[in-house]
Amino acid sequence: MQQYPYTITISSEKGGVGKTTLACNLAVYLKAMRDNLPVTILSFDNHFTIDRMFALDGQEPTGSVLEMLEGEPAGDLVRSGQYGVGYIPSSTRLSGLHARFKDPLTLTRLLAESGLSGVVFIDTRPDLNPLTQNALYAADLVLVPVMDLSSLENSKNIFALLERSGKDKDVLALIPCLVDERIKFDCEFRDQKTLLRTLAAELGYRCLNTSISISPKVESLTTNPDGKIYPILTHAQGTEVHGQFREIAQDLLRGLDALPEPRASCLYRPGPAEREARKMATYPARLEGLAECCPVCGEIVAKRPEGRGFYYETSDWARRGFLHASCFVDVLCCALYGLTSNSQGYGIARLMVTGNAGKLATLLCPRVVNGSYRVDLRQFDISGDQQLHRELILKAPGEGEGDGIYDRLFLLLRDTLSGQEGGPGKGAWLVVHPVDPKDPESILEEERYRNVHLLQAGICAALGLS
Ligand SMILES: Nc1ncnc2c1ncn2[C@@H]1O[C@H](COP(=O)(O)OP(=O)(O)OP(=O)(O)O)[C@@H](O)[C@H]1O
Ligand SMILES: [Mg+2]
Ligand SMILES: [Zn+2]
Repeated sequence: MQQYPYTITISSEKGGVGKTTLACNLAVYLKAMRDNLPVTILSFDNHFTIDRMFALDGQEPTGSVLEMLEGEPAGDLVRSGQYGVGYIPSSTRLSGLHARFKDPLTLTRLLAESGLSGVVFIDTRPDLNPLTQNALYAADLVLVPVMDLSSLENSKNIFALLERSGKDKDVLALIPCLVDERIKFDCEFRDQKTLLRTLAAELGYRCLNTSISISPKVESLTTNPDGKIYPILTHAQGTEVHGQFREIAQDLLRGLDALPEPRASCLYRPGPAEREARKMATYPARLEGLAECCPVCGEIVAKRPEGRGFYYETSDWARRGFLHASCFVDVLCCALYGLTSNSQGYGIARLMVTGNAGKLATLLCPRVVNGSYRVDLRQFDISGDQQLHRELILKAPGEGEGDGIYDRLFLLLRDTLSGQEGGPGKGAWLVVHPVDPKDPESILEEERYRNVHLLQAGICAALGLS
């Protein structure tokens, strides 16, 4: 039966909070407490702390993390190290790989096929580069050391990334680290630990009961004349930190034992964001299948490419394409102010609409209520906050040509949504995003398109749309 590793990623965007110390020493503790559990450690950082702690003299050189990330099975690269811990040697050449790890699930796949079993610790750099992001996606457990409020604040990008990955909040555990027990507060929170724990709970994250104190003895373990780094387990007996690591290791083992088998399903179970990511495929694929004509005026967009100002897509992704800036602004002028190009005040309305429409995503949800055809129109800013909400009542579809001021809106909806399963009014929706008229296609590039979908996912979740 194929085995899969249980991956523990240690991450924080703040440097020097004790990530590497935590990763190395937890590996040593886990192995000491459970001899038959394979424990492997590797680092995406370019210092060689792991090598200095685990290397045994006289070993044949094997590859490093670099080769692992280039696709060599990690199982073949692991060296048996000190204290029974396996390690993959570090490399200073990982930054050249970032482009290859744009897909945040790349490492998850590599680990699933690595031949590794037991527990794998991944130590990361203090930033959210693509390798760190991959390590967060691959993790069964993410440990985030936090030493003060600013490091908690610094963790918000990690929280956001995990949320995007579709993982449960339980995957993450905060560990108060390097806590100076002498600092006491004169308020309901007695000390830093209590304050951190309270704030973490408010954010919905768990914080381990055990924190790690500052200890000069622990600090001294990294500076030795022989260049080696010694573990807390063997070289800091009698310190408070010694017992704290034991408690945290016990906590990890309890979590591991409580895990339902098989783990493979956890590794490959896609979250909502990942399902979405698959649907979107790649940039070239997204450029395919765009509608030829502007759904408002019917003109072939390639005839006047510079006129493109908006990108739209439907909830089932069946209709996607560009809209002329002027066409969609007209739709909004009519829909929001009841003004057409012949009306007085149209110029002003157009200016207002143009300014806003360039910044806001517009959601259009047509539905039929008591026989009347309505459109729920909402606009959202880039962070997903709703800026405008109107309910428009159109004449029932089929009653001639729509009804005057809403003609263009009606055309837009009919053209884009009529092919939808169930048709307009059955829960289908359309979102229109502003694009850069100089480079409209750039909205379909990886990063920007991911943001488009994050925004859409957020809107849909908030409105209960599917
Ligand atoms: N409990 C502790 N008490 C005292 N010093 C500690 C403790 N834990 C770690 N240190 C020291 O703090 C420094 C930073 O620790 P470490 O390298 O583990 O942090 P890091 O988060 O991995 O840093 P970076 O972000 O640079 O990778 C090291 O010199 C380490 O020896
Ligand atoms: Mg480190
Ligand atoms: Zn048009």
